[in-house]
Amino acid sequence: MLRPAFESYNWNSDLFNCQSNDIDLFYSLLNLQISRLKLEQKVLGNAGEYPLLLLQSPNQQESNPNVLISAGFHGEEPAGPWGMLHFLMHLRADVFATVNLTLLPLVNPTGFEQGHRFNELGQNPNRGFPTQTNNNELISHEGALLIEYVDLLIDASKNGVLTCHEDVLLNDSYIYSFEEADKPSALSQSLRDSLGRYFATAQNGEIDGCTIKDGIIFNHFDTSFESFLVERGAKFGCCSETPGQQNFDQRVKANAQVMQTFILALHNSG
Ligand code: NI
Repeated sequence: MLRPAFESYNWNSDLFNCQSNDIDLFYSLLNLQISRLKLEQKVLGNAGEYPLLLLQSPNQQESNPNVLISAGFHGEEPAGPWGMLHFLMHLRADVFATVNLTLLPLVNPTGFEQGHRFNELGQNPNRGFPTQTNNNELISHEGALLIEYVDLLIDASKNGVLTCHEDVLLNDSYIYSFEEADKPSALSQSLRDSLGRYFATAQNGEIDGCTIKDGIIFNHFDTSFESFLVERGAKFGCCSETPGQQNFDQRVKANAQVMQTFILALHNSG
C-alpha cells in the first residue's frame, strides 16, 4: 500500500509531555544525552534549518564490533527518533567499552517537523541509494549528505545496522532483516520479538508486495539505506517497523527496546 507522502501525522506523548513533531524539544533533550554520554558529534550537513547529526561513542576500540543505528528517515514515523532518545536516556556509558556505536538520530528533520513522510523538497530520504537494484532512481538531499560520508558509514555498520521505521497504516509490528543465510537467525527473531513485547506481530502474507513470514520480510533488497549498507558489507541488517495505529508512547518504548536488544546481541561479550 502506498503511504501518503505529505499527509501530516502528529501524536501526543505523555512520556515527553509534548507533540511528536516538537523538534526543538527533541534536539534539546538529545543534547543533554550527548553531553551525559560524551558522544562525539558530527554535523553531516543541514536539512532545512536543522543539522543532520551523526553521533559516535567515545574511545572506540579496534577490537569492538561496529554497530550503526539510524532513525527518522520518514517524518510520519516519529517514534523512531523519540525511541532513540528514550534508549539513550537509559543507556549506561560503560557499554561503550564493548561496542563502537554510531547513531543517526534524525535523518529527515524537515519531514519530522511537518509530521509528513517525505522531506520538505518532496523527496523520499530512504530511496535512491546506489544499490544493485537502482535504475536511475534519484537520491534525496539527506541521502546525498550520507553518501558524502560513505566510507565512515560502511565502517560504522561493519557488524550490523539497525534502522528504525514505523508503518503508519498498521496495527501490528514486523521487521525486515538481511543476512547471509537461507532463513532468519536467532538475532532476527529476537529483534522481531522485542517489538512483539509491545504489539501483535503481523500475520503471514504480503506487505508492500513482499512476502512476510513469522513477522519477518527476509532479504528484500531495494534502494534503501539498509539495503545499501548490507550490499557494502554490513554483516547484518534490520529495519524495524512499529505500528503507527497504536499508542505513541508504546511505540517509543518498543523502538528503545529493539535498539537495546540489538546492542546487547552485538556487543563484545568477551
Ligand atoms: Ni519508513
